[in-house]
Amino acid sequence: MTETLLFSPLTIRGVVLKNRIVVPPMHQYSAIKGFPTDWHLMNAGKFAAGGAGLVVVESTKVERRGCGTLGDLGIWDDKFIEPLGRLVKFIKQQNAVAGIQLGHSGRKARANRPWEGDGPLKRTPDIDDWDEWTPVAPSAIAHSDKWPAPRALERSEVKDLVQAWGEAARRAQAAGFDVLELHGAHGYLVHEFLSERSNQRTDEYGGSEANRMRFITEVTEAVRVHWPEHKPLFVRLSVEDNAGWGPEQSARLAKILKTKGVDVIDCSSGGITDVAPILGKEIKYSYQVPLSEYVRRHADIMTMAVGLIIHGDQAEQILRDGQADLIAVGREILNNPNWPMDAALKLGVEGPFRNVPPQFGWWLGTRDKRGFGTRPSTWQSGLHDPGKVS
Ligand SMILES: Cc1cc2nc3c(=O)[nH]c(=O)nc-3n(C[C@H](O)[C@H](O)[C@H](O)COP(=O)(O)O)c2cc1C
Repeated sequence: MTETLLFSPLTIRGVVLKNRIVVPPMHQYSAIKGFPTDWHLMNAGKFAAGGAGLVVVESTKVERRGCGTLGDLGIWDDKFIEPLGRLVKFIKQQNAVAGIQLGHSGRKARANRPWEGDGPLKRTPDIDDWDEWTPVAPSAIAHSDKWPAPRALERSEVKDLVQAWGEAARRAQAAGFDVLELHGAHGYLVHEFLSERSNQRTDEYGGSEANRMRFITEVTEAVRVHWPEHKPLFVRLSVEDNAGWGPEQSARLAKILKTKGVDVIDCSSGGITDVAPILGKEIKYSYQVPLSEYVRRHADIMTMAVGLIIHGDQAEQILRDGQADLIAVGREILNNPNWPMDAALKLGVEGPFRNVPPQFGWWLGTRDKRGFGTRPSTWQSGLHDPGKVS
């Protein structure tokens, strides 16, 4: 049996992850006025039951104006605590850790669901709070010529927003989450403050690099007031945005955030322009892993790697090479929610079905023990080469 890093536990502050596999935040575009539905329970539930150590609920918006689409989840009011708590309870029952990403879409708010056509939403009579949903950003600069110019935030509104992130952290704690991630990537509000391209403010939140980093730094401080000492805090960054913000800036920021109580940088890329590679338009395994390695090495902080990590041995190698501490598997886990169990089998981990609930793990374990061999459907069948059937 193989000892792997992927399936070894990791303790961050007071929270123990049973393995290094993370389901990264993935919007479901299925909330109703910010409230989770049964879809969210099923979605988080299947990943938790599939054996991941940490399941991070999608970017959940700290204020109404921050909703990207009509289907975004919300956490801007205490009324969201209880329904989000239902997801937490189910994730924990599967012996996984429940995380949530806090976000704000900034100038990319009020958009279509991706499968309804990229770009800004068209006004319809059923949206009763259209004006309150006007996109806001550090400066009145449109994302691209496809998008409307946002309204620039007043200085006092920036201060209020910092507190909104803090209040959202309080609600995440009340709902029972054990890991919190701040969305600082993909061209959304926090990233818009970091980038010179979208931030041309002349107050203390714009101009120099230190000023552009002030918003996320204050947000982190406000979050830490409410987010308990023993619980981990992650920040997702577009470590390279192909528009002036890169690994050196990210590592400098990570060092500052570490002093403010951030434990892990989740290393993504792109989003401040339409051409950058959030979802890896170039087809290349591990395309963002070098960004994670850079931040880990230069900022001396734990990192999470994400982006076209498809195979168990690929994930294991990233950990062994010291390029990351955690592995996020996004679209591949949409393809195979039982990815952790599958990876454990392929890596030869002892008790590959121990990670999953007995409702199915027990049966798969007994099938495995019989030894007459049934290959999982994610392997080559071997049926057409009888010598290979095991
Ligand atoms: C359907 C979908 C929704 C996503 N929603 C979010 C999100 O809420 N927050 C976020 O930071 N990234 C989001 N992402 C990006 C993923 O977290 C991940 O970084 C990206 O898919 C690359 O990893 P992968 O190649 O393993 O899929 C989303 C991706 C997908 C496919």
